[in-house]
Amino acid sequence: MTTLENYWLPFTSNRRFKKEPRLLVRAEGMYFWNAAGDRLLDGCSGLFCCALGHGRPEIGDAVARQYAQLDYGPAFQYSHPGAFELANRLAAIAPGDLNHFFFVNSGSESVDTAMKIALLYHRSRGEGQRQRFVSRERGYHGVNFGGVSLAGLVKNRTDFGPGLPGVVHMRHTWLPENRFVAGQPERGADRADDLQRLVDLYGGETIAACFVEPIAGSTGILVPPRGYLERLREICDRYGILLVFDEVITGFGRTGRAFAADTFGVLPDVLTMAKALTNGALPMGAVAVRDEIYDRIVSAPAEGEIELFHGYTYSAHPLACAAAIATQTIFRDEQIFERAAERAPYFLERVFALRDLPIVRDIRGFGLLAGIDLAPATRWGERGFAVLQRLFAAGLVVRMTGDTLILAPALVAEREHIDRICEIAREVLRAA
Ligand SMILES: Cc1ncc(COP(=O)(O)O)c(C=O)c1O
Repeated sequence: MTTLENYWLPFTSNRRFKKEPRLLVRAEGMYFWNAAGDRLLDGCSGLFCCALGHGRPEIGDAVARQYAQLDYGPAFQYSHPGAFELANRLAAIAPGDLNHFFFVNSGSESVDTAMKIALLYHRSRGEGQRQRFVSRERGYHGVNFGGVSLAGLVKNRTDFGPGLPGVVHMRHTWLPENRFVAGQPERGADRADDLQRLVDLYGGETIAACFVEPIAGSTGILVPPRGYLERLREICDRYGILLVFDEVITGFGRTGRAFAADTFGVLPDVLTMAKALTNGALPMGAVAVRDEIYDRIVSAPAEGEIELFHGYTYSAHPLACAAAIATQTIFRDEQIFERAAERAPYFLERVFALRDLPIVRDIRGFGLLAGIDLAPATRWGERGFAVLQRLFAAGLVVRMTGDTLILAPALVAEREHIDRICEIAREVLRAA
């Protein structure tokens, strides 16, 4: 008999979960099944990862073939063909000259890796004094110490000390006057001037990089006001600051193009990705950098010296590479990003129709991503958790962050799936 006591769940009330576990035992397409055999719609692509829905056989077959061919090889001083093939494939879809890819195992690792790359890039240009980072309130950049230091989420920071020194935060972009705006709000681009204020306070020449999610995902889908990202880009250019887009959620079609950088027409210097890279089938992340950054770092030391003292045992793991290549092939051959762009207006229309419910305080959305703020109960997150439980009982799996319900269906969702997600949400929210 398996006891529930030995496993410690992440970002979960363990005591509460173990009293009333929500176990998923099977998945296929747009659905999960629970232990009782009930079918549940997946309203959030797992955790934003399963862009193609669950269980695509091409991905499983590719992983099985790779396992039979080469299960693992050392990642340092050796490599394997799949790593290069995947980097080629990603370079073909990444915007601009983001042509070089460092592989990691998660979004959190991609962020901490990007921070190190930013520091090393400046050192190799003789600007080692650039050691500060700028990020944003309500930002989420994973849970490692670098990412937590960048994070703008009080609960993720409070228990873990002061974090890295030298990280300063811009204000977030949520503004009350933009409530219930679908897509990019017209007002709020001036929030980017916070970066200028930090430059004026600390000196632009001390700042290594500015990290933002183009759409802040985990804190409730904060869509950038029109002109905001462009203004960040201008300020970064003016002061030699690297602009880093954390596209762990927005990457791979979520906004209707390969990356949000394409959708919003702003090219970052560094771009982090994970999640849908492998369709969630195996853990993997990557950091993409522009030619100038790679060339500068790689040409800096004497011939034969290691340029970047950083990497993971499982960087470019052969099985993860195989899953990622198979995923990217489906994205390309089935024009999945175009499908997402075509489906997005319908999704947003249906989600925004929930605004008449008294419990709904705000809705935001872009592409196949939406956040619905619920009127809080007495304690932060209590209402959200109650709604999550009721949605589960009614057959819908979602992501809840505090009292904000997040919907991010697979990019292959049909209209009927979107209809059903919104119907279940309406029934539950009406009664909540
Ligand atoms: C923008 C962003 N960065 C980083 C991460 C961390 O990714 P992981 O949970 O794979 O470490 C996430 C996870 O949701 C994310 O949304």
